[in-house]
Amino acid sequence: MSAATPKVSRLSQKIDTQMARARHAGLLRQRRALAIAKAGDNTPNEFMLEGVSFINFSSNDYLGLSQASVLVEAMSQGSQLYGVGSGASPLVTGYSEAHRQLEQALCEASGHEAALLFCSGFSANTALMKTLFDRHDTVVADKLIHASLIDGLRDSGAHLKRFAHNDIDAAVKLIATHQPQAVITESVFSMDGDCAPLGALYQACQQAQSWLIVDDAHGFGVLPVAKQPRASVSNCDVQVVTFGKALGCQGAAILGSQACIDFMVANARHYIYSTALSPANAYVAYRAVKWLGESTKIADTLHGIIDAFRRQCQQAGITLSDSVTPIQPIVIGELERLQAVTDGLKARGIWVGSIRPPTVPKGSARLRITLNVNHTQAQLDHLIASLVEVL
Ligand SMILES: Cc1ncc(COP(=O)(O)O)c(C=O)c1O
Repeated sequence: MSAATPKVSRLSQKIDTQMARARHAGLLRQRRALAIAKAGDNTPNEFMLEGVSFINFSSNDYLGLSQASVLVEAMSQGSQLYGVGSGASPLVTGYSEAHRQLEQALCEASGHEAALLFCSGFSANTALMKTLFDRHDTVVADKLIHASLIDGLRDSGAHLKRFAHNDIDAAVKLIATHQPQAVITESVFSMDGDCAPLGALYQACQQAQSWLIVDDAHGFGVLPVAKQPRASVSNCDVQVVTFGKALGCQGAAILGSQACIDFMVANARHYIYSTALSPANAYVAYRAVKWLGESTKIADTLHGIIDAFRRQCQQAGITLSDSVTPIQPIVIGELERLQAVTDGLKARGIWVGSIRPPTVPKGSARLRITLNVNHTQAQLDHLIASLVEVL
């Protein structure tokens, strides 16, 4: 008797088909384990992959804090003070003095009344949308808001009306027509690096008695007050701050009124039914917020590097978009060309984010160059010379 051929399950077939389709379209996403230079290695922004060294122009660690000795030491102090894990969800016994202290520091830094911590920005955003809204609500949002906000809004069942990216006239019209519960945008857009017109949006929201909710993932710690619209970011009803970008660590916070945060504590399923952020991580984020408050010149250093990069690109004839932030995209268009450009940069030891649909609209595949305070002039020169060769 021959053994029966094992049957392939329907789910495995579905997975195989979808993966083959993505591979064929050049859209398959894969990860790679990098050997990142350690703090103190004196090789900022470099990593090794399969024996080859690359300069990293794709990290969101804008202030270089992920490797800064102040935070590396804080991680060990935090775990000695509070332990490495919170051991329970926040409403059980997972919420400790480490969390409370960080929330207070964030309120002092932002001007908001209260704060609520999450393990990631993704869960903070989805929790916020799903908890605040339901199918009776209408929400107006920028076309390019982050996937986590979209997922949360879908889960909430709210009616979503979207305006063309950063088009304030279209936003004002939608707000006047729909009188939404809230308007949602990002301070700095993650794939474009441009800033939302927060002042004008806030005014329109006030007139319509709508909340303005700002995902400040790429703005917090990056935009100095002098550079618009940092000054107005606290002029919003809810601000989401993530710790994995400029703060160099992990986690996120929702900042808002005491009533809003109390409502989230009582109802947000992502908060209630999930182990609280590690207290050691909370301590590191606390030290990062404090460090930021004392390091008044750091944002200027970053903007000096951004200005130098943009000036050199202009001199070299490289077209950039209108971004004053560390996110400097170069739109390439088609996938094949993006692949060729990225390969050319890799061959020159440069690692740049290669962003493809559906993360960005079809036909706008792009290089997403991110700059940070540790990029040296020599690294910038090498990047620009390489871009001139490959573009
Ligand atoms: C605009 C924006 N919001 C939220 C998130 C999610 O933050 P986290 O990485 O902490 O989950 C990201 C990260 O990719 C982001 O770019």
